[in-house]
This record gives sequence, C-alpha cells and structure tokens, in this order.
Amino acid sequence: MKGVVVVGTQWGDEGKGKITDFLAEKADLIVRFQGGNNAGHTIQFNNKKFALHLIPSGIFRKDAVNVLGNGMVINPKALVEELEMLQEGAVNDFNLVISNRAHIILPYHIVLDGLFEELKEDSKKVGTTKKGIGPTYTDKASRIGIRVGEFIDETLFKDKLKDNLNYYNKLFKLFGKKEYSVEEIFEEYKEFAKKIKPFVKDTGLLLNKAKDNNKKILFEGAQGTQLCLDHGTYPFVTSSSPTAAGVPLNTGLSPQSITDVMGITKAYTTRVGSGNFVTEFEDETATKIRTSGNEFGTTTGRPRRIGWLDTVVLRHAKRVNGLTGLSVMLLDVLTGLEELKICIAYKLDNKTIDYIPANISDYKKCVPVYETMPGWNEDITNVTSYEELPKNAKQYLKRIEQLTGVDLAIFSVGPDRTQTVVLKNMM
Ligand code: IMP
Repeated sequence: MKGVVVVGTQWGDEGKGKITDFLAEKADLIVRFQGGNNAGHTIQFNNKKFALHLIPSGIFRKDAVNVLGNGMVINPKALVEELEMLQEGAVNDFNLVISNRAHIILPYHIVLDGLFEELKEDSKKVGTTKKGIGPTYTDKASRIGIRVGEFIDETLFKDKLKDNLNYYNKLFKLFGKKEYSVEEIFEEYKEFAKKIKPFVKDTGLLLNKAKDNNKKILFEGAQGTQLCLDHGTYPFVTSSSPTAAGVPLNTGLSPQSITDVMGITKAYTTRVGSGNFVTEFEDETATKIRTSGNEFGTTTGRPRRIGWLDTVVLRHAKRVNGLTGLSVMLLDVLTGLEELKICIAYKLDNKTIDYIPANISDYKKCVPVYETMPGWNEDITNVTSYEELPKNAKQYLKRIEQLTGVDLAIFSVGPDRTQTVVLKNMM
C-alpha cells in the first residue's frame, strides 16, 4: 500500500488543497483526519473555483473514496451546505464516507468559542476562526462530546444534547448569553443527521481493509505544523494535531501505514490570527505579496500577515513530521522583488538558536538571522520544468532544499492544476 501525508509546514494556508487535489489523481482514498471547517482549501480547474472546508479535495476525482476521519470535528449544517454547493457546481455522485467516531459541532460550541475569546485580554486572544473547533475538542476530552454515530441516532442525540445544554445553559446564563432550547436544536439538526446518515461508517475498518488490499491512501492535513496543539506555537494554535503523527490516531490505521510525508510551504510565510511570527514585516513589499498572492483567509476573509521564508520553522516541521519531500507553493508571487530574504536561524538573548522555543514569551524575543538572495523579474507562470526557471529562482529553490535537507518534490507557479511542476513522484 501507499500512505502519503500532505502536511502544512507553516501556519496553514500553504496550498495543501492544490497539492492534495493534484496527488488525488492517483490515490484510491483521500482522507481528512483532523480539524473541521476552520480549514479552507481553494481548488481551481476548468475556470471553476471551489472553496472546500470539510470535504476532502479528492471529491472531484470520480473513482476516489473521500473519508472524514475520526479525528475530525464536523459541523453538520456546514457539511450539508458544502454538499449542496458541490451539487450546484460539478459533483453529483458523492464518494464520501464519514467516521462514526468523529465529533459534532453544535451551535453552542460556536458561542463558546466567541465567549472564551471575548473574556481574554486583547494580547491573549488566539484569533480563532470562531467555528467552534476548540470547544468541540474540549467536549471530546471532557468526555461529553457527541459523536457522529450518536448524532444519527435520534434517541442518543437528544439525550446527550439534553445533558450538555443542562450544563452549558447555566454557563450562558452566568455570562448573559442566550440560552438554547433542546427542542429547537434537535428539530433543526435531526434533519441534517438524516442527510449525512447514508455516508456514516466505521472508517477505521474501511481504511484498514483498503490497506490490506494494497490501496493508495492520501491523507490531507488541515492547518499546519506550527498550529499543532502539541508542537505548534502554543497557545496560539488550533486544538488538533495537523502533523503526520496525527494520522494514525485520527484514522484508526497503524503508524506503519505512512510511507511518505509531503511538507507544503509557501515560498514566503503567512499567518492568520494572533501569535508570534518572527519573520513578519509590514511595508510595500508585504502589500505587494498580499495582493498578488491573494493572501486573505478562505474561511474568514481576514488579511493574512506576511513574512519572509523561515527555515527554522521548516526544519521544525521536518523533525516533527519526518518530511520526505517538500512542495514550494506560490513561487510566482515573488516575481518582481529585487531581493528575497530567508531566515536561517534565530537570535535569542544574543545566542543563535535553531529551534522554536516552547514558551511564547521566549519566542517573542527571537529575532531573525537573514540571508539575502537576488530576486527575478521574468514571468514564471508558464514554466513547466525546473530548467525553464530563471537562474535566481533556481538558486532560491536550491537554497531552500539545502537549508531544510528535504528534497524538492513539487513547485507551483500559479493557482491552476496545470501550473504545478513535479520533480519527485510520491503517489
Ligand atoms: P481555530 O482552529 O478556529 O480554533 O483557530 C486557532 C488558530 O488557528 C487561529 O490562529 C486561526 O487563525 C488558526 N487557523 C485555524 N484554521 C486555520 C487554517 O485553515 N488556516 C490558517 N489558520 C488557521
């Protein structure tokens, strides 16, 4: 079998959706394993553009099975809306399977997400997507979460909903928020449950069977390594494990099921939401990158913060994920810049370091050590091989390869499927 993981090496939005869609062509199954509709993947082909938040990007490939794994948190309303959006677009037959162990996001999780942020001082706000992700994972860890398998059983769903609202309504009352009626949520959400029920299965069993039958499985990470609950820039992180290590836990497959790990990075860095970001800068060049890279959140529309490429971040991602290949995305966005900076290390209290400090208080004190490289002016959007790139773009990619010690597997020179150059085949 083949098990290829696509992981974000930075703070999300690296272009994982495009690479997943690209690799999905050869995959038998495409699996989302963590997160929920906080993610946003834009897929563009045949002059059509689709923004996916929950459904794997492989949904456009007719023969592939698309799986929502047990590690996900699923907003049933958002899922039904996404299915309807796809129906209006290009897809009619859904080859989709949803884990009966994934957790359900309900309206009160979204209110809680906002409330916890509201109660924090400005400098301590995480800047979440306010989709209820954190509170749903909190319920999971507190063992009061509602799983998909329970959600599609009306008796179980109502019983758990009653227990949870009994608890959360007391909290809402305390904070002067609207209390929820069990009946209201139940009546609305049982209709969503009916719509998703045909897709619900034990996906762990299904995936293990696929593995035994020597199938090719593609795991689509959402967010990125620096947003990982354990290995990211805590507490400014998401509530799941978007790393390769998250795959076995969140799918029911064993760790040996992973054969390759493709790390996705932009040719620069972006971050949306709060939290430290060592190579961030805000000037005319940042504005130019934001505009030509269309750096606005797919999920929230927020302008993304811009920074130079940070190879301390990439080496951290290499260690955590065991990267076997690197995809460098949005290389074309850097065209026209006179010079490019690459961060090769940090200075912390006058010491040069090559790691991300665990405490955010130390991370805030880190300053970047830069190397400067010449830029290029040639249009590279029609380039179809590494050889066709201008000398300085080649040099930039080579330097990334040297500084990370990871083979360059793909580089991307535009949003379309065709603007993808493959140097190392993984699938
Ligand atoms: P949450 O996942 O909504 O709880 O948000 C936690 C942090 O992760 C915030 O800084 C978000 O902006 C960030 N985040 C969550 N999902 C994504 C994503 O898909 N791309 C980029 N940032 C994300």
